[in-house]
Order: sequence, then structure tokens, then C-alpha cells
Amino acid sequence: MDNDIQEVLFDQTSIHDAAVRLGKQITQDYAGERPVVLSVLKGAYLWTADLLREVDLYVDLEFINVSSYHGGVKSTDEITLVTDIGSDIKGRHVLILEDIVDTGQSLLFMKELLAKRGAKSISVATLLDKKEGRKVDITADYVGFDVRNEFVVGYGLDYKEMYRNLPYVGILKKEVYSD
Ligand code: PRP
Repeated sequence: MDNDIQEVLFDQTSIHDAAVRLGKQITQDYAGERPVVLSVLKGAYLWTADLLREVDLYVDLEFINVSSYHGGVKSTDEITLVTDIGSDIKGRHVLILEDIVDTGQSLLFMKELLAKRGAKSISVATLLDKKEGRKVDITADYVGFDVRNEFVVGYGLDYKEMYRNLPYVGILKKEVYSD
């Protein structure tokens, strides 16, 4: 897989440092609370495992699966709810864990869903924030790294379901997906 990567942007050490930094902030900000941590599959599976181990709080871990890239290299405007949350979040503080916020449309979709279901508060911790990609006015509360407008894979992020198990985030070589 390494041969398909043009440039490593965030290696294991820097991702770990980001998890420690955000984990501390989240632990402080939610002190005394028991939030629902909502991990967005599939992309956020590693970020969830690493960030959550740096959070010293009682939490309920839940998963949701929404899809916007549909396996391709660009986010689409069509957001699909693939698998819904397994529990009632009414009256709960919800912390969404994302691997990347790009157009922001997945996040908006989830925030609207959670608000409609009566969440007490909704925050977002994302590993990557691709601000240049935004199509809707939405911001993440906790950001690991700002990322430039390139197609990135690894550490949960895929191209046609591949590369999710790369331990770092890197730019995929154009020749891998252009033919
Ligand atoms: C990715 C990512 C976010 C979303 C961000 O998921 O995990 O959920 O896209 O894009 P947006 O801000 O433009 O909406 P994807 O649809 O690729 O599904 P996956 O996590 O299963 O790979």
C-alpha cells in the first residue's frame, strides 16, 4: 500500500499526539457528565479507538453509519443513513467522532437527526478538517489537523474500501484512481 501514497501528511506519532491533546480537552470539557460518544462508521473506527483511550470519562459508545463518498474520491451531495444509532439519545450530550469533515453535509445530516431526537448538546471531534471543501456552514468543535484539499486515505479513510488499515494519513497518488 505504501507505494500508492504520494505523501504522508500525518504519521502515527502526530496522530497519537492529536488524540492525547483532544482527549485532555474533552475530559475537561465534559467533566462530571456521561456523554454518548457517537462514532461515524466506517472511517472513524481507528480515531475512535485511539481518541477514546485518551478520554477519562464514563461514556456510552454508539455507532452510526452514514455514507457520502460512496467509495469514490469526492464527497457526493447524497447522504445515506446506512445503519442507525442503537439507543435513544434524548436528553443526552452527544459527541460525534469523525475522521474527516469535508463538505460538512454528513455532519449537518447527523446534527439535524440528533437535534430532532432531542439531544441535549451536540459536539464534534474530527481528526481532519478539510475547510476548503465546505458546502454548508458548519464547524467542528475539536480538530486534530486541518488538511488541504487533496484526496487522502489511511487511518480509517478509504478509496473503494482500501487503505483503511494504513497506520497514517497520506495523499493517494492520482494514477491509482485516474484510470
Ligand atoms: C466520509 C467521512 C465523513 C464524510 C465527510 O465518509 O467519514 O463521514 O465522508 O464528508 P462530507 O463532510 O463531505 O459529508 P464516507 O462517506 O466516505 O463513508 P465511510 O466513512 O464509510 O468511508
